[in-house]
Amino acid sequence: MTKLLQFTRFALTLSPRLQPSTFFPGRRRSPASLAGIALVLLVFSIAGGAENANASPEAKALLLEKGCGGCHLIPGVEDAYGEAGPSLKGMKTRKRLLGGKLKNTPENMRAWLMNPGSVKSGTVMPNLGLTNEDADIMIEYFKKI
Ligand code: HEC
Repeated sequence: MTKLLQFTRFALTLSPRLQPSTFFPGRRRSPASLAGIALVLLVFSIAGGAENANASPEAKALLLEKGCGGCHLIPGVEDAYGEAGPSLKGMKTRKRLLGGKLKNTPENMRAWLMNPGSVKSGTVMPNLGLTNEDADIMIEYFKKI
């Protein structure tokens, strides 16, 4: 019990020092905290770059050529912030497509990419003339993002 009291007294003597400024030192940033911030920024930029590296050059070229980014948000592809279609972030973990209508299998994805209207009539996604090889490239790419 006396130990607990001693500890409480000790904690109380410390408390005036535990001001918000201890955690948010404002302008008085120590070199250590600046280094910490730099490190966090560095880690984030590497993580962003890794997403970029996932796209094969063929996949990126195809996405740009076909203008997929005009309708989809695609991680790691420049200017791909479209909102007409769903975001393509996290395709590799997606179990179903088209709001649950279609199982996310390579065959279904091929059918969808090569002729969206044949899978879902009236869909906004146009037939962009993807070849079988184009579909292969996309299917591989979607396993990585
Ligand atoms: C004109 C806009 C438009 C363009 C261009 C477009 N899409 Fe789409 N896309 C859509 C829409 C809208 C949907 C949602 C389909 C629906 O539910 O009717 C969709 C759905 C998808 C899906 C299914 C995602 C899911 O989780 O349901 C994939 C994958 C996809 N598009 C890939 C592509 C690729 C690859 C390209 C380029 C070759 C492309 N899209 C070009 C509009 C577009």
